[in-house]
Amino acid sequence: MNAELLIPVGVAVVAILAAVAAFTIAWRRSSGDEWRKNVARETLASDRSTGVDVTAVVTDAAVAEAVLDTAPEAEEPAVGAVAIATTQRVVEVSPEEAGVTRRTFLNRALSATFLGGFLGTQALAFLSFLWPKVSGGFGSDVVAGKTADLLAQAVNPDGTKNPVFVPEARAYVLPASSITSEQFDGRGVDAGGLIALFQRCVHLGCRVPWCQTSQGFECPCHGSKYNSVGEYFAGPAPRNLDRFVVEITDSDDFIIKTGSIIETPRAIEKSVEYPLGPSCIGG
Ligand code: FES
Repeated sequence: MNAELLIPVGVAVVAILAAVAAFTIAWRRSSGDEWRKNVARETLASDRSTGVDVTAVVTDAAVAEAVLDTAPEAEEPAVGAVAIATTQRVVEVSPEEAGVTRRTFLNRALSATFLGGFLGTQALAFLSFLWPKVSGGFGSDVVAGKTADLLAQAVNPDGTKNPVFVPEARAYVLPASSITSEQFDGRGVDAGGLIALFQRCVHLGCRVPWCQTSQGFECPCHGSKYNSVGEYFAGPAPRNLDRFVVEITDSDDFIIKTGSIIETPRAIEKSVEYPLGPSCIGG
């Protein structure tokens, strides 16, 4: 199941479970206290304050007498009637003392349902954010192709570079320069003569296209320029294009580790010359 389908299905399941739980609890609570609907609230309150259940249905004469003994000046009850104390003390009770009414309970259950749905949505959104790490795609190790094939595609017959764009990794794969800046040493950013550059401009995040004529990357948003190995050349970008850690498997697959992004400061000494022709964005 993909992440787009996972979210609505999860929300629906959470909402249904919450609704079923609320209905079940409401039904149980109401079925045992049905008689209370027919008794005045003041009577219930008086009952609680005296500890005598004056609303009990009297089904036996002896029981009726016992009830009246606890209720001063009560009249003779009839079997099957509801015995009500003739002298009642009206006591104001707080909602807490009166207990949770059905309406209050249902309101709370409704609120809990919406809250549960909201929290469920957030949890599923978080899981979907993590989803690519376990199912492939950006954030995980991406197989860009066979190293030999990538090398062949990334260099034109005339010797100019032609980066291979790998959408799943959001990366350009291109030949590494034989003269590499020291700041990349030992950081795992080249393998088999190839490197992988993150397509995102390090200024404000625009996708940086390749310019075939100048043999560099030129950002159309604010004019930052980088040479063919992503080293900073001009514009507001604060550093070089970011690189990914890469490796080659025993079967010659070129792997881009998109979960490992390497940032480097502007290269003082450039590995390759730039520009080698007209710019695509001017300036
Ligand atoms: S986003 Fe690329 S230069 Fe501003």
